[in-house]
Amino acid sequence: MRKLHQRCVRTPVFRTLAGSVVVCDAEMARQVLVDTGGQLDHVPAFWRPGNAPLPPPVCAALNRWVHTCLSAEDPGRVAATAVEAVAATRGDLHRACLHAVAEANRRPLGFEHHSNLRATVGEFLDHVFHGMMTGASRYPDIDAFQRLAARAGRAVASGAVPGFPDLDRAIRGEVYLRAVTAFVGASAAALAWLICALRSDELVATRRPAETAPDVPPEHVALETLRLWPPAWQHRRPVLRDHRIGSMAVLRGDELVVPAYALQRHPRYWPDADLFDPARWARLPQRPEAFLPFAVGPGACVGARFEVRWLAAAAAHLSAQPPIPLVRRSATPCVTAVFSPPEHTIGLR
Ligand code: HEM
Repeated sequence: MRKLHQRCVRTPVFRTLAGSVVVCDAEMARQVLVDTGGQLDHVPAFWRPGNAPLPPPVCAALNRWVHTCLSAEDPGRVAATAVEAVAATRGDLHRACLHAVAEANRRPLGFEHHSNLRATVGEFLDHVFHGMMTGASRYPDIDAFQRLAARAGRAVASGAVPGFPDLDRAIRGEVYLRAVTAFVGASAAALAWLICALRSDELVATRRPAETAPDVPPEHVALETLRLWPPAWQHRRPVLRDHRIGSMAVLRGDELVVPAYALQRHPRYWPDADLFDPARWARLPQRPEAFLPFAVGPGACVGARFEVRWLAAAAAHLSAQPPIPLVRRSATPCVTAVFSPPEHTIGLR
């Protein structure tokens, strides 16, 4: 990741040895993702059950369901529930954040209507998602995933998840677990980064003293956390048709990569790019083009607005309480499909 970042700072568009085309110029990256010419495939990985993309009307129905669920939620309540749950936990930070965010989303995820669904999701987070997120397991435990998907599918069929789109029996459990991933995965990583950023000095090389001052709006703390540590650290899009990006020819079958992490730390776009400085957001007239934690265009995150609001509320809650005690267990961040902090244990040494 560091090598990719260094190359991005030097070269706006390049092809990697593996054949991906990396676009690290903010204006070009936005054009690529907005994709007015329909040159790219925008179905996110988690709407691909068994690696087969869902038909566009099904994706649209799922996105509408997510959107409707979020509009009924109060970001302040979600944040209070999640922060309280993490603060009450001892043990692995990633695990604690995953469970806390799932619990905070218990209403849309249907735990209230089906007691076994909470246990099924808990097992999915512990035995499948946690390993994928931290890199502890390279491949998911397919048997465990299928067993849990079948259990979740039965609960969804019995009406446990209100408003969930009507889907083929064979895939509905898997799609539900992918919806859990959408609700919980990146949000849990963002919460973990926020806890680390507010708590452990070793993650933040330098900080401005104002960063914890009460006059920094919590939204700016949330935005600065998403800038330095974007859980979706790169946006990948398969190319459907040959075309050009700047001087580079891209071909059907290539993969385009927009490296959000590199863009959000690029010295051309951000003064003191590596500095954790929430106050910078007050100096900006608008969100910079190089800020792309949720992607843009078709396939962009439908939870983006909600995420910033609840993360801001979480920053406010965390600043108002004693710091969560953390012991760091690994030297480097976890870089998988999700970018999350080094492993930590919650609790005193
Ligand atoms: C920090 C937290 C989050 C980050 C960084 C994030 C990031 C993203 C990104 C980058 C995508 C595009 C996927 C791709 O490029 O293939 C995406 C899609 C999506 N996100 Fe998020 N997300 C976050 C939180 C959420 C939340 C809270 C929800 C709501 C439950 C959500 C729901 C979705 C959905 C449904 C899509 C698919 C959109 C589509 O099919 O067009 N995300 N997210």
